[in-house]
Amino acid sequence: MTAQRTDERDNERRRAEHEPLLRIENVWKSFGTEQVFRGIDLEVDRGDVEVLVGPSGSGKSTLLRCVNRLTEIDEGAIYLDGERVTDADANVNELRQQVGMVFQDINLFAHLTARENVTLGLRRVRGFGKSEARDRADRELANVGLSDQVDSYPAQLSGGQKQRVGIARALAMDPKLMLFDEPTSALDPELSNSVLEVMERLVEAGMTMLVVTHEMRFARSAADSITFLEGGQVVERGPPERLFERPERERTREFLESIYG
Ligand SMILES: Nc1ncnc2c1ncn2[C@@H]1O[C@H](COP(=O)(O)OP(=O)(O)OP(=O)(O)O)[C@@H](O)[C@H]1O
Ligand SMILES: [Mg+2]
Repeated sequence: MTAQRTDERDNERRRAEHEPLLRIENVWKSFGTEQVFRGIDLEVDRGDVEVLVGPSGSGKSTLLRCVNRLTEIDEGAIYLDGERVTDADANVNELRQQVGMVFQDINLFAHLTARENVTLGLRRVRGFGKSEARDRADRELANVGLSDQVDSYPAQLSGGQKQRVGIARALAMDPKLMLFDEPTSALDPELSNSVLEVMERLVEAGMTMLVVTHEMRFARSAADSITFLEGGQVVERGPPERLFERPERERTREFLESIYG
């Protein structure tokens, strides 16, 4: 092997060892005259759960959307597993396969059953055969507690069940990273719990997650770190114990008290 090739391998190994799974670097974004981000930096390591909080309009949803390029950034860069995904020539379809997203508004196809909603991507995107896709879909639906609902249409499911189909659908793509944007905020507490339980199991399974949520129990128990976003910047970031008990900034204390009171 040539010295050069050895160097390349070394670089790759170093990158795999030290590079966080997600790296958001100096991201700037404005919509017209409104400056939403003024240099956002955030790193999420493999297997970690980052909870993102901030006032309404602070850009939480926008940041998640930038990660899978539903929204384009103005300046800076976003890296997934060492790949710079915000380059103009980066493969957006590949990126979205690697990054699962679950929104507040459940966006299932109304004319398809739960199972069909999950098999669709397996067939079209991953090229699974019919029975293979069906098996995988049923397995994912069982994992979110919906074995008995595989043939139900979205209209026949509760909000929490629909949200779990959405999670099953995203997981069927074998994503490296999951983005959650207030997945429980449209649900009653009881239905929220069914979704939070699924998310907690994902955490235990080692999934890397970036989660916008005001669910204190989840933030305290599942987050490795909480990021407080305001005024286009990261105001403070740290492990939940520290952020809740001993925040460095008065503004962080005020905000956390306002949402978690
Ligand atoms: N496509 C868009 N066009 C114009 N402005 C936008 C667009 N998307 C978001 N914005 C603006 O960017 C800012 C951040 O919005 P965003 O939805 O990311 O906030 P958020 O923190 O998710 O708020 P919430 O807690 O209410 O969900 C807001 O002022 C919003 O109006
Ligand atoms: Mg939002």
